[in-house]
Amino acid sequence: MNQFLFFFLIFFFFFSLFAKLSLSDPRATEAALVCTNRTASTTERQTFISNYLAVMDAVTPLIVQQRFAAVVNGTGDTKVFGYGECMKDLDQSDCNVCFAQCKTQILRCLPFQLVTRGGRLFYDGCYLRYDDYNFFSESLSEGDRTVCNTSDAASSNQTVFRDYVLQLVRNLSVEAPKNDGFFVGSVSRGNVSVYGLAQCWELVNKSACESCLANAVSRIRSCLPKEEGRALNAGCYLRYSTEKFYYNSTAPPVIGNRGRRKLAVILATTFSTLALTLIIATAVFCVNKKLVRKRRERKQLGALSHIVNKSKLNFSYESLERATNYFHDSNKLGQGGSGSVYKGTLPNGKVVAIKRLFFNTRQWVDHFFNEVNLISSIYHKNLVKLLGCSITGPESLLVYEYVPNQSLHDYLFVKKDAEPLRWEARFKIVLGTAEGLAYLHEESKLRIIHRDIKLSNVLLDEDLIPKIADFGLARLFPEDKTHISTAVAGTLGYMAPEYVVCGKLSEKVDVYSFGVLVIEVICGKRNKFSEDSVSILHMVWNHYEVDKLCEAVDPIIEDNFLKEASRLLKIGLLCVQAYAEMRPSMSTVVQMLTDDAHEIPQPTQPPFLNSSSTEVSQNIASETYNSQPESYTQCSGNSMTQSMIEPR
Ligand SMILES: *[C@@H]1O[C@H](CO)[C@@H](O)[C@H](O)[C@H]1NC(C)=O
Ligand SMILES: *[C@@H]1O[C@H](CO)[C@@H](O)[C@H](O)[C@H]1NC(C)=O
Ligand SMILES: *[C@@H]1O[C@H](CO)[C@@H](O)[C@H](O)[C@H]1NC(C)=O
Ligand SMILES: *[C@@H]1O[C@H](CO)[C@@H](O)[C@H](O)[C@H]1NC(C)=O
Ligand SMILES: *[C@@H]1O[C@H](CO)[C@@H](O)[C@H](O)[C@H]1NC(C)=O
Ligand SMILES: *[C@@H]1O[C@H](CO)[C@@H](O)[C@H](O)[C@H]1NC(C)=O
Ligand SMILES: *[C@@H]1O[C@H](CO)[C@@H](O)[C@H](O)[C@H]1NC(C)=O
Ligand SMILES: *[C@@H]1O[C@H](CO)[C@@H](O)[C@H](O)[C@H]1NC(C)=O
Repeated sequence: MNQFLFFFLIFFFFFSLFAKLSLSDPRATEAALVCTNRTASTTERQTFISNYLAVMDAVTPLIVQQRFAAVVNGTGDTKVFGYGECMKDLDQSDCNVCFAQCKTQILRCLPFQLVTRGGRLFYDGCYLRYDDYNFFSESLSEGDRTVCNTSDAASSNQTVFRDYVLQLVRNLSVEAPKNDGFFVGSVSRGNVSVYGLAQCWELVNKSACESCLANAVSRIRSCLPKEEGRALNAGCYLRYSTEKFYYNSTAPPVIGNRGRRKLAVILATTFSTLALTLIIATAVFCVNKKLVRKRRERKQLGALSHIVNKSKLNFSYESLERATNYFHDSNKLGQGGSGSVYKGTLPNGKVVAIKRLFFNTRQWVDHFFNEVNLISSIYHKNLVKLLGCSITGPESLLVYEYVPNQSLHDYLFVKKDAEPLRWEARFKIVLGTAEGLAYLHEESKLRIIHRDIKLSNVLLDEDLIPKIADFGLARLFPEDKTHISTAVAGTLGYMAPEYVVCGKLSEKVDVYSFGVLVIEVICGKRNKFSEDSVSILHMVWNHYEVDKLCEAVDPIIEDNFLKEASRLLKIGLLCVQAYAEMRPSMSTVVQMLTDDAHEIPQPTQPPFLNSSSTEVSQNIASETYNSQPESYTQCSGNSMTQSMIEPR
């Protein structure tokens, strides 16, 4: 009996590996993206986004575990419901890949402007939805879509084609509810075959599944006689195509109880030939694995593969895994908007920081590598150097120079035992950060806008020399702008108003964030953008108006530096002026910092002032801008928001 079990397990093991290898198309192609507008509850937008991110984080591990996930986070109006599921014919690893891509693309629905949105993304291999109400068992809703191919089927008789496709989808819609909500089938007449798949989402009950599919059948009719059609409903998915798109292998992707029993029967009867099968399977498996991997790599890298393999920017995934002790938690340095960062030691002893990106870059791997190549050529003493990347593994990694002393944020606000920063150190940090930015904006050949300047993105080395981290990240993700939408959630307090409201991007967006950072460093306080605190911009501006800037300075700073500190605060205020055009360029800021004789103009108001901070978001929407010249009220020019929300 033990022997039987042993063979059973081995066979099962190879069997599943084998199945995994032969099924390698995750069908991560988009069928439809449906974004919905909800009631605009502007004050809660930020909470909504962070709940959204929490939901997305919670969905992934569940998908990996059980292939579907229903998650809720938040309370009241900002509650976010999220649901994800894979098609049941996909195997687990394809499911994971499909889902990883789906997750990055649904961000295109994210509430970037003032409207809270829901979103649904139908891939051919998986489905993801979030909304602000409980839709988990909903079968039909407004956003349901029918997507047809543009070309007619090459059938010898369209009437006949129409008839048998309809018969097929009707059959599927009847069978699926009876078979755990999933059924595939095919039919061949004349010279054309048609394949179909019907699936109801896991939380949709049998009767709702029936009515959902019945509705889907009636709508998919409108696609005939096109060669492919899909009905995409809130509760189910129905598709037919003249191409075989689903998996119908001998290995069912999810082996339920019935399947396992059947397998056991087969095993018992073929026990005598098992040993032979095993040997053959092992041999084929080894050859196949190599082939599949090669093919996959070649496909991903295209013509680049040669260059990538030779480049010294290319790190192998395995070596980075080992360098971080398999991404062990004890090596984790921190968690950013676009990924978590680990400390790693390369075989040659060099210590590096390795960023593990959340977002899958399979689709634009060549672009990614080119950008890494460009960004890694940038060198400045106040910028964290990008050393290279790994793009051949299951996830994308970036390798950075390791900066030992943590971030400015942790140094100022987290580390309790650290000696408070003295004046000289603070000045050096502000100046270095300004120089790094001036280099990015005006001197480097790429003209990079950082977009996410904040205390936690300025790292300090042993000599407290500041180094700006994560520049150029936005360039790496041209398609989904993920990094920016994520930044919206975390760093609203640093974002220039024209960027928040209009998505208008220029170097002056960084100047604004830099101004906030200067004020934080000199005051020794964080610029909280929450409901119960007065923003420090507000506080410093009030002191400035009554000519008592020195009272805003961090009391730890020695008295004989108060005058210099006030001067820096004034420069900070210049940088956070409401109008982008009035903010100085970074090179001007560097001049002001280094040359005491350089005149500092009188700053005008920062934004969000004629309000208590609880009303800030509403002001973004209306009053602040309406009461000021038109450069705000009209979002003209290149609006990134637009391109983010419009489906491509
Ligand atoms: C959603 O809102 C945007 C602007 O906020 C508008 O252009 C679009 O037409 C709206 N879509 C729907 C379906 O209401
Ligand atoms: C929402 O997400 C946050 C962050 O992941 C978590 O701490 C919290 O427990 C979640 N809340 C609910 C109700 O699941
Ligand atoms: C099935 O779900 C629908 C919609 O959620 C609900 O109206 C119906 O009562 C449910 N039926 C059963 C038998 O649970
Ligand atoms: C559907 O249309 C696309 C291009 O429009 C085409 O490439 C594809 O082969 C068509 N047919 C099917 C069955 O997908
Ligand atoms: C089926 O036959 C028709 C006409 O006899 C022809 O136009 C069409 O290309 C054929 N389709 C296929 C898939 O061979
Ligand atoms: C298609 O088939 C139907 C039913 O078999 C027949 O009545 C019709 O004449 C055929 N049409 C063509 C164009 O062959
Ligand atoms: C649909 O089901 C009926 C009865 O089960 C069967 O006779 C018919 O061939 C099926 N048609 C297709 C296209 O699968
Ligand atoms: C699956 O494939 C087998 C042979 O490859 C075929 O006999 C069977 O009808 C197929 N099943 C479906 C649902 O397409």
